[in-house]
Amino acid sequence: MQAYRASILHLVGDPTKDEKAVAFHDDGLLVVNEGRVVACGDYAALAADHVEVPVEDLSGHWITPGFIDTHIHFPQVDIVAAHGAQLLDWLEQHTFPAEAAFADPEHARETATFFVDELLRNGTTTALVFGSVHKGSVEALFAEAFSRDMRLIAGKALMDRNAPPGLTDTVEGARADMEGLIADWHGKGRLGYAVTPRFAISCTDAQLEMAGQVLAQHPGVWMQTHLSENPREIVETAELFPGASDYLDVYERFGLVRKRSVFAHCVHLQGEAFQRLAAKDAAVSFCPTSNLFLGSGLFPLPTACQHGVKVGIGTDVGAGTTFSILHTLGEAYKVGQLRGQALDPFHALYLATLGGARALDLDDRIGNLAPGKEADFLVLDLAATPLLARRLAAAKGLEDRLFALTVLGDDRVVARTYLAGVERYRK
Ligand code: GUN
Ligand code: ZN
Repeated sequence: MQAYRASILHLVGDPTKDEKAVAFHDDGLLVVNEGRVVACGDYAALAADHVEVPVEDLSGHWITPGFIDTHIHFPQVDIVAAHGAQLLDWLEQHTFPAEAAFADPEHARETATFFVDELLRNGTTTALVFGSVHKGSVEALFAEAFSRDMRLIAGKALMDRNAPPGLTDTVEGARADMEGLIADWHGKGRLGYAVTPRFAISCTDAQLEMAGQVLAQHPGVWMQTHLSENPREIVETAELFPGASDYLDVYERFGLVRKRSVFAHCVHLQGEAFQRLAAKDAAVSFCPTSNLFLGSGLFPLPTACQHGVKVGIGTDVGAGTTFSILHTLGEAYKVGQLRGQALDPFHALYLATLGGARALDLDDRIGNLAPGKEADFLVLDLAATPLLARRLAAAKGLEDRLFALTVLGDDRVVARTYLAGVERYRK
């Protein structure tokens, strides 16, 4: 057993619905045993019950749950910040050439080490990740995450059309790759598999039908794809699927909309489509830095929430411009401002933690520091930069401090990252 004394902030409910959702222990104690949280609360209330447990004093720091990134691309780390293009041109000019390099297992291995290091350095303890079309890219990533006992979900991209030669698969080849990956990795340690049709444009009807069949055969497996990100993408999708009533219907008709399905972006969806997602218990990943960088549009977070759809936050590296979930929350606030809707800081933290866990259907295991949860947590240094230290010294209460942290904070704030109770990163 090990205990940590610090200020502890986490969410025990959805702050947009539950007045008691925010739990803050200014002088708090977190007690961890065998990878799980044993107790979390006020030091004064818990210390007497844990006199035998060694306590590390981290006073002056904050402990929060690890961040959950609900949408990121492993093979795109080398094309972050590619100039000039919007989605479809960006894919052709920058993304596909970078992903083609993942046919080489050595390149995949080297990048996987960098990628997982970077997640942990930024305080991300769980991620839902796109691989390239190559089975080996996902094997390399799973192996790296497994070696750190990280909770990570990933899948090989399905793409059997509208991509360059060398970057397409076939329906039966992809089915075999997925069955192999599920057998070898899904449920191993803390890993999970996600069936990953890239987006409707890159999949034939037969490919999407196969994806739905694999999901039906493996109900515990996740599904991830892109939906309604860019106006040209929406028009081309309608042309490729003339029988579908709208973009979401393309996925609905193949059985891809269900619990454990996560749809990235949804920038141009209307209320009715969010309602259909909510009715199927599917989730959305809000990716503000990507949506701004590619000029895709402004995600209507309040509309999505009003219709009861589960929402997590995603970096969407490499269209997204940072691995930092803190920085991404700051950009989410700015997207809200451009829509005239200011994102509440507790709601922002919810998206990054318990909301993300609910989007992934993992809230029984992660998302906050309630007893019994897996001990994935962060130690944050609130004086990591001179400006942040100065701004927080002048802050007016918890909400203001958290808000400043999301606007000014990034990887520099993350002092330590723990996975299942084990320190896996220290600044
Ligand atoms: N739509 C299809 N593929 C991609 C991708 O790699 N990134 C983003 N942002 N959107 C996509
Ligand atoms: Zn994406």
